[in-house]
Amino acid sequence: MRLFLDTASIEEIREINRWGVLSGVTTNPTLVAREHGDPDAVWKEILSEVDGDVSLEVTDLSTPSAMVEQGRRLAAMGPNAVVKVPMTPDGLETGKLLTKDGIRINVTLVFSPAQAILAAEIGAYIVSPFLGRIDDAASDGMHALRQICEIYEVQGYETNVLAASLRHPMHVVDAALAGADIATLPYDVFTKLVKHPLTDVGLQSFSADWQRLQEELKGGA
Ligand code: G3P
Repeated sequence: MRLFLDTASIEEIREINRWGVLSGVTTNPTLVAREHGDPDAVWKEILSEVDGDVSLEVTDLSTPSAMVEQGRRLAAMGPNAVVKVPMTPDGLETGKLLTKDGIRINVTLVFSPAQAILAAEIGAYIVSPFLGRIDDAASDGMHALRQICEIYEVQGYETNVLAASLRHPMHVVDAALAGADIATLPYDVFTKLVKHPLTDVGLQSFSADWQRLQEELKGGA
């Protein structure tokens, strides 16, 4: 399962990228707005920083042709750009047209296996079910993800399943068990993923024992 960072913050991307585990980035209009800068500059900086897929979301939703035009512009920003379109009738129309142009699309705001079937049928590169938000609506996000992965397997769909809206490390573990191709994690979930109290305890005792040995050796000299 490839790990993506769900952010538009270049500092967060640089930090996690140093770990050597980052395969891509997903952004959305909320995350880009949080950076308070020119969106084109934000997107371009991320595209050049990351050696992997970067999802950029269309924001001009007025008509399918406006979405297609913006989608083409976003795709032209870099060879690693993936254009995000929403799971709506206009979004599907736009996604299909962009796909025909050879542009890779990520169908976002997906909340059900039924919607995921539509994304696969238009030849989307990525489908993004929002697990945490399904849980927020008193439903079972992980169950929906498992169903989507099973349907894609049975049907032979090639669309990559990207588990999004992940809130904690067990979401990541369960998404991997379900067979998701990609998981996109907010910065705080990434940092929680690396942490374990026994790692800290073990490191402390190893360091203390090593230090004691150095003192013994110094004393014996
Ligand atoms: O970027 C899409 C998705 O991951 C958003 O997550 O936490 O805002 O529901 P969240």
